Amino acid sequence: MNRCIVICGTSRGIGKEILSELTKDTQLQLIALSRNVSEISEIYHENKQVTVIPFDLSLPIENQLIEYFKDIKEVHGLINNAGYLELGPVETLSIEAYHRCMQTNFFGPIALIKWLHPKLFAGKAHVVNISTMGAYQGSVKFPGLSAYTASKAAITNFTEVFAEEQKDTGIRMNCLCLGAVNTAMLSEAFPGFIAPISAEEMGKYIANFTLHGDRFYNGKILAVSSSTP
Ligand SMILES: NC(=O)c1ccc[n+]([C@@H]2O[C@H](COP(=O)([O-])OP(=O)(O)OC[C@H]3O[C@@H](n4cnc5c(N)ncnc54)[C@H](OP(=O)(O)O)[C@@H]3O)[C@@H](O)[C@H]2O)c1
Repeated sequence: MNRCIVICGTSRGIGKEILSELTKDTQLQLIALSRNVSEISEIYHENKQVTVIPFDLSLPIENQLIEYFKDIKEVHGLINNAGYLELGPVETLSIEAYHRCMQTNFFGPIALIKWLHPKLFAGKAHVVNISTMGAYQGSVKFPGLSAYTASKAAITNFTEVFAEEQKDTGIRMNCLCLGAVNTAMLSEAFPGFIAPISAEEMGKYIANFTLHGDRFYNGKILAVSSSTP
């Protein structure tokens, strides 16, 4: 049976490249989730291994996914790559902005993990949470990113507890804390800043880590950065 990998946040940036890299293994069944689906639906409309599903982490999960997952019994990989960033100092950033970051970067992924849990269990899945170096303890911090970084720190810390709870189930979970990568998110937050890593390079790394990293890591928070101290 083909291995099934679910990737959340595939419409652009790193997630789009993760999906592209995973399609090189034609034995994989790939489920691509994001709100904007027109471009990737067009790219993959003739590729039967990719199912593109319109999906919003701020909406209830079941209604959006149940129909697509009715014949999928096992999920072997889940990449929580979707991310949302709001920039501003604590004094002016609204409490709603903190909620929006928490929803996309923490509550939404948790709801997805919980909903998929029986299938993750059946597939002895590797779950990979994509976080940021800002959420890595002791790393350099960037002013204006308190909502984003704190919400990413939540999923980062969740990783350790989940892996401990699930260690006898066969589900493995790791968290990759990324340094800067050249994507729209980075250029929108820091116009003019050029990162040393492309989305394509990082997408390849994350795809490979998802397929093979659970042999070596479980419950680990890993810094993936050649630039951020
Ligand atoms: N780029 C960097 O320098 C950097 C550094 C550290 C960590 N990261 C992390 O790496 C991941 C990918 O970042 P990126 O730079 O590729 O970001 P990006 O270009 O902004 O892409 C983010 C992806 O998340 C999806 N997304 C956002 N809100 C969503 C929602 N409510 N429901 C479902 N999907 C949603 C977006 O799709 P739709 O808008 O179509 O839904 C998009 O596909 C993020 O978790 C980010 O925090 C990035």
